[in-house]
Amino acid sequence: MLSELGFKKGSVVECIVTTYNSDGSPNAAPMGVYTLGDAEVVLKLHRGSDTLANISREGCAVLNITYDALLFLKSALLKYSPEVSHSEVSRSKLNAPYLKAAHAYAAIEAKAVKSYSLSDSLGESHISVLKGMVKEVKVLKPFPQAPCRGFFAAVELAIDLSRGKREREEQLKRIMRRTLPAREYREIEEFLRSLNI
Ligand SMILES: Cc1cc2nc3c(=O)[nH]c(=O)nc-3n(C[C@H](O)[C@H](O)[C@H](O)COP(=O)(O)O)c2cc1C
Repeated sequence: MLSELGFKKGSVVECIVTTYNSDGSPNAAPMGVYTLGDAEVVLKLHRGSDTLANISREGCAVLNITYDALLFLKSALLKYSPEVSHSEVSRSKLNAPYLKAAHAYAAIEAKAVKSYSLSDSLGESHISVLKGMVKEVKVLKPFPQAPCRGFFAAVELAIDLSRGKREREEQLKRIMRRTLPAREYREIEEFLRSLNI
């Protein structure tokens, strides 16, 4: 049941969406998921994303529930490097991979229902709206997770940096430094340094 996994009707939740690229390699990207009901979701994808190309080709994707802060940053910000390797995924019931380390996942069949253009401070973008029907839900790690502010800070930073915004960078890094395990924060810091932004 999607609602038991936090996909409440009317809410937007952040998932790592995994798909197969045309060469069979796995692709991962954070995406907002709009929940219409227990078996129905909506994705709004920017034209030009690999996720949209892969779903258009394969007709499916997996929505992964994960609290992996580094993965949110990497999969939002790395365009051409693989964010996940073959060994980190398995095939779901559909032709889309799931993250073996995820807490749970939902595999969806998806198709574009409409598209529109959006003009905002970031310029003009073209959005495809996809409707997804849930075909498989699996809980891989059945224990509850205590929320950690460092994870939410990482998600906010991933959004900011993917939009070229850096105003909150130091504040968000401070939260991550204070609340994430030291090793995790070091990995994030190293990754951000490697971006050379
Ligand atoms: C938390 C979060 C939510 C995001 N939601 C969306 C979204 O709903 N639609 C979208 O097109 N991009 C979204 N993005 C941006 C994509 O993740 C980013 O453009 C990514 O590089 C796309 O990767 P891909 O080309 O492998 O699909 C989001 C980023 C973050 C960090």
